[in-house]
Amino acid sequence: MTCTPEELAQRDRLEDSYVLAQSPTMLTIERSVCGCDFGGTSWTTRTQAEQLITQLDLNVRSQLLDLGAGSGWPGLYLAQQTGCQVTLVDLPVSGLQIAEKRARQDGIAGQLTTVNVSATDLPFPSNSFNAISHSDLLCCLVEKQSVLSSCRRVINPLGCMAFTVISVVPDLSDTQRLHAVENGPEFVESATSYQDMLDATGWLVTSRQDVTAAFCETMQRQLDADIAHRESLETLLDSDAVEERILMWQSKLNAVQDGLLRREVFVVRPDRARSG
Ligand SMILES: C[S@@+](CC[C@H](N)C(=O)[O-])C[C@H]1O[C@@H](n2cnc3c(N)ncnc32)[C@H](O)[C@@H]1O
Repeated sequence: MTCTPEELAQRDRLEDSYVLAQSPTMLTIERSVCGCDFGGTSWTTRTQAEQLITQLDLNVRSQLLDLGAGSGWPGLYLAQQTGCQVTLVDLPVSGLQIAEKRARQDGIAGQLTTVNVSATDLPFPSNSFNAISHSDLLCCLVEKQSVLSSCRRVINPLGCMAFTVISVVPDLSDTQRLHAVENGPEFVESATSYQDMLDATGWLVTSRQDVTAAFCETMQRQLDADIAHRESLETLLDSDAVEERILMWQSKLNAVQDGLLRREVFVVRPDRARSG
C-alpha cells in the first residue's frame, strides 16, 4: 500500500510536531486540555483513555496493538496502567522514538514494541493481538477500510477493538459539507459509512457512542489554553503562526458546535462467522 503525496506530507509535518509537542509549554497545554502529557495529537482525554481499559478488558495478560500511536498516547499509558504488552504502530519515526524514551523513563520499556509501518499493511501473523485501539486515526488517512481489514486479520477471534473517529455529519447541504471538510482532520471525508466499512470487513459493533459534546469541551479547553499561553507559544512559533493556530481552533470549534462534525467511540468484536 503506497501513501498519497498528501499523506506523505502529513507524515512529514507530524515528524516535526511530535518533537515540538515535547516542549514544556506544549506539555503544560496538553495537561490542561486532555489531562495527560505524552505529546498527543488526538482529542482523547485521560477519562476516555481510562474507559478503554474496561472497553478492551485490558490486564497484564493482554497483547494490545495501538495504531497511529504517535508518541505513545494512549497506548503507553494503557500499558502503564494495566501491565499489558503494547505494540505501537505509526509512520513518523520521531513519535515512536519519543514513546521509547518515555517507556524507559517510566520503567516499562520491557512492555513496549514499536513498529514503523502503515496500519493498512500490518506485518503481524493472524490472531496476534487480543486488543486493538486507535484514536482519531481513520480520519487521518485515505484507506480506512484497508485498516479495518488489516486489524480484522491480526485480532484474536475473542479479541476486541475500540477506536474514536471524527466524521462529517450525514445529510448536510453541499456548503455545510465543504465547511465540515475544511475544519475536520485532513482525511475526514469518507464515501462509505463506518458502519458499512465495519460490516464489510467482518466486525460486529458492540457499542457506538457519540462523544461530540465532550469533543466540544476539549476543543474549548484547547482554545482557552492557547490564548492563556500565547506568549510562551510565541517563543516556539512565530506570532503569525500562533495567531493562525488560535483562529484555526476557533473555526474548528464553531464547525463542531454548528453540528457539522461529530466524534464517536466504536467498540467492535470480530464476527466469528467470517474469517479475517
Ligand atoms: C490524530 S493522530 C493520533 C496520534 C496518537 N494516537 C495520539 O492520540 O496522540 C493520528 C495518527 O495516525 C497516524 N497515521 C496516519 N496514517 C497512518 C497509517 N497509514 N498508518 C499508521 N499510522 C498512521 C499519524 O501519523 C498520526 O500519528
